[in-house]
Amino acid sequence: MKAIVHTKFGPPDLLELKEVAKPTPKEEEVLVKVHAASLNAFDWHILRAKPFLVRLAGFGFLKPKHKIPGVDIAGRVEAVGRNAKQFQPNDEVYGDLSGCGLGAFAEYVCAPENLLALKPANLSFEEAAAVPMAAVTALQGLRDKGKIQPGQKVLIHGASGGVGTFLVQIAKSFGAEVTCVCSTRNVDIARSIGADHVIDYTKEDFTQNGQRYDLIVGANGDRSLSDYKRALNPKGIYVMSGGSMAQIFSALLLGPWMSMTGSKKMATVAAKPSQRDLVVMRELLETGKVKPVIDRRYTLSEVAEAIRYLEEGHAQGKVVITV
Ligand SMILES: NC(=O)c1ccc[n+]([C@@H]2O[C@H](COP(=O)([O-])OP(=O)(O)OC[C@H]3O[C@@H](n4cnc5c(N)ncnc54)[C@H](OP(=O)(O)O)[C@@H]3O)[C@@H](O)[C@H]2O)c1
Repeated sequence: MKAIVHTKFGPPDLLELKEVAKPTPKEEEVLVKVHAASLNAFDWHILRAKPFLVRLAGFGFLKPKHKIPGVDIAGRVEAVGRNAKQFQPNDEVYGDLSGCGLGAFAEYVCAPENLLALKPANLSFEEAAAVPMAAVTALQGLRDKGKIQPGQKVLIHGASGGVGTFLVQIAKSFGAEVTCVCSTRNVDIARSIGADHVIDYTKEDFTQNGQRYDLIVGANGDRSLSDYKRALNPKGIYVMSGGSMAQIFSALLLGPWMSMTGSKKMATVAAKPSQRDLVVMRELLETGKVKPVIDRRYTLSEVAEAIRYLEEGHAQGKVVITV
């Protein structure tokens, strides 16, 4: 089969499209013919081993542990392992392989069946591949860390990227009043996915306009923790989902301390792949409450170019690989 092969940490140029052996499913795995994959910031962190912690987190210390990168897939089950009971050949599935050896950027991949779910019936493979990691991060950030409630005022900072476009729609599905913060060129996207209010960060500073929120999620936030804290209502919650390294480390290190010194909570979300949450997402997608926003499509041989584009940090929704 054809696959993108990753043998050295470094820039996307090191990735090669090669002919490799087609995998065989272990007892509790299924073999999936990949029809589409999607990119996440996770991919370039693993590719470059940045931050250095990647090397200590099981992805290889001196060289990549997993030869074929990529986490989000949508495809068709081709074969099932002896003890795999949940799926049958021809089932259409989707999932996030970040917890089980990666391998999405290939024509076939084996995955434990408990990390996959049936693909939403109304979505194409490309649309379904856009969902797993970004949408489950958004769901777990809003529901589990943000304790989102109907009627709450929720602000999404960085609403136009892969995670942000899911955050907005999932927050709306919970009945929240959603304010998006994005740049001028993304204002229309934010409105089209259901934002009640849009703040163009090139014209207005959401921390200085007197508005206060019950929940703020920073998908691509670039403000200090104290700025976010100031923009919260009493008992409000800030959830850091992504952003710069400084952003991430300050939320991890200072967030717990700031949460102890007042009624406002400063939390972080590190999403976990979850079959249960893929099923929750399937319902939201099949009822039309959430629709993936796809920015660009690339082919398998163009994965390096696609990652270079994502790394620029200005994707408008998700970047998809058609296999
Ligand atoms: N916690 C987790 O488990 C988890 C899971 C997945 C991803 N993440 C992290 O979440 C972050 C976002 O991921 P993503 O897939 O959404 O990234 P992405 O698709 O690359 O985000 C790009 C978008 O962010 C916007 N943006 C960039 N800087 C901004 C700023 N300062 N203010 C407002 N918007 C800004 C860009 O619009 P403009 O260029 O027009 O501003 C663009 O539309 C990454 O840091 C990623 O590592 C975390």
